[in-house]
Amino acid sequence: MAIAHRALSAFARMAAVVGALGVMTAPAVHAAEALHPHKIDWTFDGPLGSFDQASVQRGFQIYKEVCAACHTLDHLTYRNLGEKGGPFVASGRLNAATGAWEDVKLGPPHHGGKLVPAADNPFVRAIAAEYQITEIDPTTGQEVTRPARPSDRFVSPYTNPYEAKAIHGVAPPDLSVIIKARHDGSNYVHSLLTGYVDPPEGEQPPGGAANLSYNPYFPGGWISMPPQLLPDRVAYTDGTPATPDQMARDVVSFLTWASDPKAAERKQTGLAVLIYLTILAGLLYAAYRQVWRDVKH
Ligand code: HEC
Repeated sequence: MAIAHRALSAFARMAAVVGALGVMTAPAVHAAEALHPHKIDWTFDGPLGSFDQASVQRGFQIYKEVCAACHTLDHLTYRNLGEKGGPFVASGRLNAATGAWEDVKLGPPHHGGKLVPAADNPFVRAIAAEYQITEIDPTTGQEVTRPARPSDRFVSPYTNPYEAKAIHGVAPPDLSVIIKARHDGSNYVHSLLTGYVDPPEGEQPPGGAANLSYNPYFPGGWISMPPQLLPDRVAYTDGTPATPDQMARDVVSFLTWASDPKAAERKQTGLAVLIYLTILAGLLYAAYRQVWRDVKH
Protein backbone atom coordinates (compact mmCIF):
# COMPACT_ATOMS: atom_id res chain seq x y z
CA MET A 1 0.00 0.00 0.00
CA ALA A 2 1.54 3.28 -1.15
CA ILE A 3 0.61 5.24 1.94
CA ALA A 4 1.86 2.70 4.43
CA HIS A 5 5.01 2.58 2.33
CA ARG A 6 5.42 6.35 2.46
CA ALA A 7 4.86 6.40 6.20
CA LEU A 8 7.37 3.58 6.56
CA SER A 9 10.04 5.29 4.50
CA ALA A 10 9.51 8.54 6.45
CA PHE A 11 10.00 6.45 9.53
CA ALA A 12 13.16 4.90 8.14
CA ARG A 13 14.56 8.34 7.21
CA MET A 14 13.95 9.61 10.72
CA ALA A 15 15.61 6.52 12.16
CA ALA A 16 18.63 7.17 9.91
CA VAL A 17 18.91 10.77 11.12
CA VAL A 18 18.72 9.70 14.74
CA GLY A 19 21.38 7.09 13.99
CA ALA A 20 23.63 9.65 12.31
CA LEU A 21 23.45 11.84 15.37
CA GLY A 22 25.18 9.09 17.24
CA VAL A 23 22.41 8.05 19.60
CA MET A 24 22.88 4.47 18.55
CA THR A 25 22.37 3.06 22.01
CA ALA A 26 18.79 4.35 22.33
CA PRO A 27 16.03 2.61 20.35
CA ALA A 28 15.92 4.24 16.89
CA VAL A 29 12.74 6.26 17.44
CA HIS A 30 11.25 6.60 20.84
CA ALA A 31 7.61 5.58 20.65
CA ALA A 32 6.44 8.58 22.67
CA GLU A 33 7.78 10.99 20.02
CA ALA A 34 4.91 11.15 17.53
CA LEU A 35 5.78 11.87 13.89
CA HIS A 36 4.87 15.28 12.52
CA PRO A 37 1.80 15.07 10.27
CA HIS A 38 2.11 15.46 6.48
CA LYS A 39 1.31 18.96 5.26
CA ILE A 40 -1.61 19.03 2.85
CA ASP A 41 -2.75 22.02 0.76
CA TRP A 42 -6.39 22.16 1.88
CA THR A 43 -8.79 24.26 -0.19
CA PHE A 44 -10.19 25.67 3.08
CA ASP A 45 -6.85 26.98 4.36
CA GLY A 46 -6.35 30.74 4.74
CA PRO A 47 -8.75 33.66 5.12
CA LEU A 48 -10.10 33.31 1.56
CA GLY A 49 -10.15 29.51 1.50
CA SER A 50 -13.39 27.63 0.89
CA PHE A 51 -14.63 24.08 1.17
CA ASP A 52 -14.77 21.69 -1.76
CA GLN A 53 -18.43 20.78 -1.18
CA ALA A 54 -18.26 17.50 -3.12
CA SER A 55 -15.44 16.44 -0.80
CA VAL A 56 -17.40 17.49 2.31
CA GLN A 57 -20.40 15.46 1.05
CA ARG A 58 -18.22 12.39 0.52
CA GLY A 59 -16.73 13.02 3.97
CA PHE A 60 -20.20 12.93 5.46
CA GLN A 61 -20.70 9.55 3.78
CA ILE A 62 -17.46 8.31 5.41
CA TYR A 63 -18.51 9.60 8.82
CA LYS A 64 -21.94 8.04 8.45
CA GLU A 65 -20.82 4.65 7.12
CA VAL A 66 -17.57 4.23 9.07
CA CYS A 67 -16.83 6.60 11.97
CA ALA A 68 -20.39 6.87 13.33
CA ALA A 69 -20.23 3.25 14.49
CA CYS A 70 -17.95 4.44 17.30
CA HIS A 71 -17.75 8.26 17.36
CA THR A 72 -20.45 10.78 18.30
CA LEU A 73 -20.77 14.20 16.66
CA ASP A 74 -22.61 15.84 19.55
CA HIS A 75 -22.49 19.50 18.59
CA LEU A 76 -23.96 19.05 15.13
CA THR A 77 -27.64 19.04 14.18
CA TYR A 78 -28.91 17.57 10.90
CA ARG A 79 -30.10 21.08 10.07
CA ASN A 80 -26.48 22.33 10.03
CA LEU A 81 -25.92 20.16 6.93
CA GLY A 82 -28.36 22.30 4.94
CA GLU A 83 -27.42 25.74 6.27
CA LYS A 84 -25.43 28.28 4.28
CA GLY A 85 -21.94 26.86 3.75
CA GLY A 86 -23.09 23.33 4.61
CA PRO A 87 -22.58 20.30 2.34
CA PHE A 88 -26.28 19.72 1.59
CA VAL A 89 -27.39 23.30 1.11
CA ALA A 90 -30.16 23.38 -1.52
CA SER A 91 -31.90 25.99 -3.63
CA GLY A 92 -35.23 26.13 -5.42
CA ARG A 93 -38.35 28.21 -6.05
CA LEU A 94 -41.05 28.80 -3.47
CA ASN A 95 -44.51 28.28 -4.92
CA ALA A 96 -46.48 31.10 -3.32
CA ALA A 97 -49.83 29.35 -3.89
CA THR A 98 -48.96 26.01 -2.27
CA GLY A 99 -46.11 27.14 0.01
CA ALA A 100 -44.04 24.24 -1.36
CA TRP A 101 -40.50 24.38 -2.67
CA GLU A 102 -40.10 23.38 -6.31
CA ASP A 103 -37.13 22.50 -8.57
CA VAL A 104 -35.05 21.90 -5.47
CA LYS A 105 -31.42 21.14 -6.32
CA LEU A 106 -28.30 20.60 -4.26
CA GLY A 107 -26.09 23.68 -4.13
CA PRO A 108 -26.36 27.39 -3.31
CA PRO A 109 -28.84 29.55 -5.27
CA HIS A 110 -27.87 30.35 -8.85
CA HIS A 111 -30.23 31.98 -11.33
CA GLY A 112 -33.44 33.14 -9.69
CA GLY A 113 -33.40 30.30 -7.14
CA LYS A 114 -33.51 30.86 -3.40
CA LEU A 115 -31.86 29.12 -0.49
CA VAL A 116 -34.24 26.46 0.85
CA PRO A 117 -34.52 26.79 4.67
CA ALA A 118 -32.73 23.82 6.25
CA ALA A 119 -35.93 22.60 7.95
CA ASP A 120 -37.62 22.26 4.52
CA ASN A 121 -34.52 20.95 2.73
CA PRO A 122 -35.50 17.50 1.37
CA PHE A 123 -31.91 16.19 1.42
CA VAL A 124 -31.52 17.11 5.10
CA ARG A 125 -34.94 15.71 5.98
CA ALA A 126 -34.11 12.41 4.27
CA ILE A 127 -30.78 12.14 6.12
CA ALA A 128 -32.40 12.88 9.50
CA ALA A 129 -35.27 10.46 8.88
CA GLU A 130 -32.83 7.55 8.65
CA TYR A 131 -32.24 7.84 12.40
CA GLN A 132 -34.53 7.04 15.30
CA ILE A 133 -34.81 9.17 18.42
CA THR A 134 -36.02 7.58 21.65
CA GLU A 135 -37.43 10.04 24.15
CA ILE A 136 -39.90 10.34 26.99
CA ASP A 137 -43.24 11.76 25.94
CA PRO A 138 -43.86 14.62 28.42
CA THR A 139 -47.64 14.06 28.51
CA THR A 140 -47.80 10.28 28.90
CA GLY A 141 -44.39 9.66 30.54
CA GLN A 142 -43.95 6.75 28.11
CA GLU A 143 -40.80 6.08 26.10
CA VAL A 144 -41.50 6.76 22.43
CA THR A 145 -39.43 6.33 19.29
CA ARG A 146 -39.74 8.64 16.28
CA PRO A 147 -37.69 9.42 13.18
CA ALA A 148 -35.18 12.23 13.72
CA ARG A 149 -35.98 15.71 12.43
CA PRO A 150 -33.59 18.33 10.98
CA SER A 151 -33.55 20.12 14.36
CA ASP A 152 -32.25 17.04 16.22
CA ARG A 153 -28.62 16.58 17.13
CA PHE A 154 -26.67 13.77 15.44
CA VAL A 155 -27.82 10.52 17.01
CA SER A 156 -25.22 8.78 19.18
CA PRO A 157 -24.34 5.11 18.59
CA TYR A 158 -24.44 4.61 22.36
CA THR A 159 -27.41 4.34 24.67
CA ASN A 160 -25.52 5.72 27.69
CA PRO A 161 -22.22 7.52 28.42
CA TYR A 162 -20.50 4.42 29.86
CA GLU A 163 -21.11 2.15 26.90
CA ALA A 164 -18.37 3.73 24.74
CA LYS A 165 -15.60 2.88 27.21
CA ALA A 166 -17.07 -0.52 28.05
CA ILE A 167 -17.04 -1.55 24.37
CA HIS A 168 -13.75 -0.06 23.19
CA GLY A 169 -11.61 0.05 26.34
CA VAL A 170 -10.95 3.75 25.65
CA ALA A 171 -13.96 5.94 24.86
CA PRO A 172 -13.67 7.15 21.24
CA PRO A 173 -13.66 10.97 21.53
CA ASP A 174 -16.55 13.04 20.20
CA LEU A 175 -15.51 14.29 16.75
CA SER A 176 -17.43 17.63 16.76
CA VAL A 177 -14.36 19.73 17.53
CA ILE A 178 -11.54 17.20 17.21
CA ILE A 179 -9.95 19.24 14.39
CA LYS A 180 -9.66 22.26 16.70
CA ALA A 181 -8.77 20.17 19.74
CA ARG A 182 -5.61 18.74 18.13
CA HIS A 183 -2.55 20.73 17.09
CA ASP A 184 -2.52 21.10 13.26
CA GLY A 185 -5.85 19.20 13.38
CA SER A 186 -6.67 18.69 9.68
CA ASN A 187 -3.19 17.44 8.81
CA TYR A 188 -2.99 15.39 12.01
CA VAL A 189 -6.25 13.50 11.49
CA HIS A 190 -5.36 12.80 7.84
CA SER A 191 -1.95 11.42 8.82
CA LEU A 192 -3.45 9.45 11.71
CA LEU A 193 -6.08 7.78 9.52
CA THR A 194 -3.59 6.84 6.79
CA GLY A 195 -0.54 6.26 8.98
CA TYR A 196 -0.98 2.77 10.45
CA VAL A 197 2.15 0.62 10.12
CA ASP A 198 3.59 -2.55 11.66
CA PRO A 199 5.19 -1.80 15.03
CA PRO A 200 8.98 -1.31 14.98
CA GLU A 201 11.00 -4.45 15.66
CA GLY A 202 10.88 -5.38 19.33
CA GLU A 203 8.26 -2.75 20.26
CA GLN A 204 5.56 -4.25 22.49
CA PRO A 205 2.14 -2.78 23.32
CA PRO A 206 1.88 -1.50 26.90
CA GLY A 207 0.87 -4.32 29.21
CA GLY A 208 0.90 -6.68 26.22
CA ALA A 209 -2.62 -5.53 25.26
CA ALA A 210 -3.72 -7.44 22.17
CA ASN A 211 -6.31 -4.98 20.88
CA LEU A 212 -3.96 -2.07 20.16
CA SER A 213 -2.73 -0.99 16.72
CA TYR A 214 0.50 0.83 15.96
CA ASN A 215 0.39 4.34 14.54
CA PRO A 216 3.51 6.56 14.68
CA TYR A 217 1.40 9.76 14.45
CA PHE A 218 -0.42 8.96 17.68
CA PRO A 219 1.43 10.05 20.84
CA GLY A 220 2.87 6.86 22.33
CA GLY A 221 2.33 4.91 19.12
CA TRP A 222 -0.25 2.42 20.39
CA ILE A 223 -3.87 3.31 19.68
CA SER A 224 -7.19 1.66 20.56
CA MET A 225 -8.68 2.54 17.18
CA PRO A 226 -8.07 -0.17 14.56
CA PRO A 227 -7.21 1.00 11.00
CA GLN A 228 -10.43 2.20 9.36
CA LEU A 229 -9.81 3.49 5.85
CA LEU A 230 -8.71 0.40 3.94
CA PRO A 231 -9.08 0.73 0.13
CA ASP A 232 -12.72 0.78 -1.05
CA ARG A 233 -14.06 0.95 2.49
CA VAL A 234 -17.06 2.81 1.03
CA ALA A 235 -18.56 2.97 -2.46
CA TYR A 236 -18.72 6.65 -3.40
CA THR A 237 -21.92 7.55 -5.21
CA ASP A 238 -20.10 10.10 -7.42
CA GLY A 239 -17.65 7.49 -8.72
CA THR A 240 -14.56 8.96 -6.99
CA PRO A 241 -12.04 6.13 -6.35
CA ALA A 242 -12.15 5.36 -2.62
CA THR A 243 -8.41 5.28 -1.90
CA PRO A 244 -7.32 5.64 1.73
CA ASP A 245 -5.82 9.08 0.97
CA GLN A 246 -9.03 10.27 -0.76
CA MET A 247 -11.28 8.99 2.01
CA ALA A 248 -9.07 10.61 4.67
CA ARG A 249 -9.10 13.95 2.79
CA ASP A 250 -12.87 13.80 2.48
CA VAL A 251 -13.62 12.92 6.09
CA VAL A 252 -11.16 15.57 7.29
CA SER A 253 -12.87 18.18 5.07
CA PHE A 254 -16.19 17.16 6.59
CA LEU A 255 -14.88 17.25 10.16
CA THR A 256 -13.17 20.61 9.58
CA TRP A 257 -16.46 22.03 8.30
CA ALA A 258 -18.28 20.40 11.25
CA SER A 259 -15.90 21.92 13.80
CA ASP A 260 -17.12 25.38 12.77
CA PRO A 261 -20.19 25.20 10.49
CA LYS A 262 -20.53 29.01 10.42
CA ALA A 263 -16.95 29.68 9.29
CA ALA A 264 -17.81 29.96 5.58
CA GLU A 265 -20.63 32.37 6.29
CA ARG A 266 -18.38 34.42 8.56
CA LYS A 267 -15.64 34.64 5.92
CA GLN A 268 -18.22 35.83 3.39
CA THR A 269 -19.58 38.46 5.78
CA GLY A 270 -16.04 39.55 6.61
CA LEU A 271 -15.28 40.07 2.93
CA ALA A 272 -18.52 42.03 2.39
CA VAL A 273 -17.70 44.23 5.40
CA LEU A 274 -14.20 44.89 4.03
CA ILE A 275 -15.57 45.88 0.62
CA TYR A 276 -18.17 48.12 2.29
CA LEU A 277 -15.54 49.81 4.47
CA THR A 278 -13.25 50.37 1.49
CA ILE A 279 -16.03 52.05 -0.50
CA LEU A 280 -17.09 54.06 2.56
CA ALA A 281 -13.52 55.25 3.11
CA GLY A 282 -13.36 56.36 -0.54
CA LEU A 283 -16.65 58.24 -0.25
CA LEU A 284 -15.61 59.92 3.00
CA TYR A 285 -12.37 61.05 1.44
CA ALA A 286 -14.21 62.45 -1.59
CA ALA A 287 -16.63 64.26 0.74
CA TYR A 288 -13.75 65.64 2.78
CA ARG A 289 -12.12 67.00 -0.40
CA GLN A 290 -15.41 68.51 -1.43
CA VAL A 291 -16.08 70.21 1.91
CA TRP A 292 -12.58 71.72 2.26
CA ARG A 293 -12.32 72.54 -1.45
CA ASP A 294 -12.13 76.34 -1.13
CA VAL A 295 -10.26 76.60 2.14
CA LYS A 296 -6.59 77.52 1.90
CA HIS A 297 -4.38 75.36 4.21
C1 HEC B 1 -14.37 0.55 15.83
C2 HEC B 1 -14.52 1.83 16.46
C3 HEC B 1 -13.97 3.06 15.75
C4 HEC B 1 -14.23 3.50 14.48
C5 HEC B 1 -15.15 2.87 13.44
C6 HEC B 1 -13.52 4.75 14.32
N1 HEC B 1 -12.83 5.05 15.47
FE1 HEC B 1 -11.71 6.69 15.79
N2 HEC B 1 -11.28 6.03 17.68
C7 HEC B 1 -11.73 4.86 18.24
C8 HEC B 1 -11.16 4.71 19.57
C9 HEC B 1 -11.42 3.57 20.52
C10 HEC B 1 -10.36 5.86 19.79
C11 HEC B 1 -9.51 6.18 21.03
C12 HEC B 1 -8.09 5.79 20.72
C13 HEC B 1 -7.12 5.92 21.86
O1 HEC B 1 -7.20 6.92 22.61
O2 HEC B 1 -6.26 5.01 22.01
C14 HEC B 1 -10.46 6.67 18.58
C15 HEC B 1 -9.80 7.87 18.41
C16 HEC B 1 -9.94 8.69 17.29
C17 HEC B 1 -9.34 9.99 17.15
C18 HEC B 1 -8.54 10.76 18.22
C19 HEC B 1 -7.07 10.46 18.18
C20 HEC B 1 -6.39 11.31 19.24
O3 HEC B 1 -5.51 12.11 18.88
O4 HEC B 1 -6.77 11.21 20.42
C21 HEC B 1 -9.72 10.48 15.93
C22 HEC B 1 -9.34 11.82 15.32
C23 HEC B 1 -10.53 9.47 15.31
N3 HEC B 1 -10.63 8.38 16.17
C24 HEC B 1 -11.10 9.61 14.06
C25 HEC B 1 -11.89 8.64 13.46
C26 HEC B 1 -12.47 8.80 12.16
C27 HEC B 1 -12.37 10.04 11.29
C28 HEC B 1 -13.15 7.66 11.90
C29 HEC B 1 -13.91 7.30 10.63
C30 HEC B 1 -13.11 7.28 9.44
C31 HEC B 1 -13.00 6.79 13.06
N4 HEC B 1 -12.22 7.42 13.98
C32 HEC B 1 -13.55 5.52 13.17
C33 HEC B 1 -12.58 3.95 17.65
C34 HEC B 1 -13.07 4.03 16.37
